[in-house]
Amino acid sequence: MSAPRFAVVTGAANGIGRATALRLADDGCDLAIVDVEAEPLAEVAAGIEAKGRRCLTLVADCLDPAAIAEAALQIEQTGPVDVLFNNVGQSGRERASEFWNSDPEVWRFVIEISLMSTLRWSRRIVPGMRARRSGRIINMSTESAFYGDTGLADYAAAKMGVVGFTRSLARELAPFHVTVNAVAPGAIRTRAHDRLPKETIDKVRNSVPMGFVGEPQDVAHVVSFLASEGARYITGQTILIDGGRWMI
Ligand SMILES: NC(=O)c1ccc[n+]([C@@H]2O[C@H](COP(=O)([O-])OP(=O)(O)OC[C@H]3O[C@@H](n4cnc5c(N)ncnc54)[C@H](O)[C@@H]3O)[C@@H](O)[C@H]2O)c1
Repeated sequence: MSAPRFAVVTGAANGIGRATALRLADDGCDLAIVDVEAEPLAEVAAGIEAKGRRCLTLVADCLDPAAIAEAALQIEQTGPVDVLFNNVGQSGRERASEFWNSDPEVWRFVIEISLMSTLRWSRRIVPGMRARRSGRIINMSTESAFYGDTGLADYAAAKMGVVGFTRSLARELAPFHVTVNAVAPGAIRTRAHDRLPKETIDKVRNSVPMGFVGEPQDVAHVVSFLASEGARYITGQTILIDGGRWMI
């Protein structure tokens, strides 16, 4: 029997990160899970352990480079990382606005959490993968980066940055058999989605050719595949998971 793989998931306490951490545990991975929200993170850890997998639980703010460095150190001391899912990220949410009226401080926040954290985590984990000539990195983008969304120009810019980063890093690491891909979900039912007014949710659903809003598991299944041996010849790609709204 082969040794369990070790996977890191950022933003693992809720939504897509949570579903993916649990899915990777089902796949036989041990996990390191990172989030700022301690309580739901502990619940995810319990769920992973209930599946018979080991879990390193790290409460850390991915906006803080020192916190990332400290968490990465603890991860390195636990074992070599096979899979990194750079999931953490967000729009300015209630502070989001049309660009003509936007605040550079909000851009800075959105770019830090959605792009810089991906670079920082990758910078920590890549050297080990490169040296071992093995690894899977999956980065979180969004359909909004392709489609364009009113009021989310900073978010779209950061998440398209994730796509460019994914492609460049994929080329650098291809000779070392480390693959780097991205996922770009459309409308997925997470807590941010649940806070939207019913009319907005109806409008979103009606714009999806498949006629329904996705679940976090719809993303988790794709990440699970990209993290698997079966995906060894796929790198530099961004997989849209949006019920057919944007086709490339
Ligand atoms: N839900 C969607 O429709 C959708 C669509 C496309 C892309 N995405 C992307 O998917 C990712 C996950 O989003 P979600 O919808 O699951 O959100 P969510 O709010 O349900 O979960 C995000 C998690 O990240 C954590 N987090 C936030 N800031 C953090 C920080 N500074 N340090 C550590 N942890 C932090 C939160 O505590 C939370 O547990 C994000 O990058 C988001 O941009 C979501």
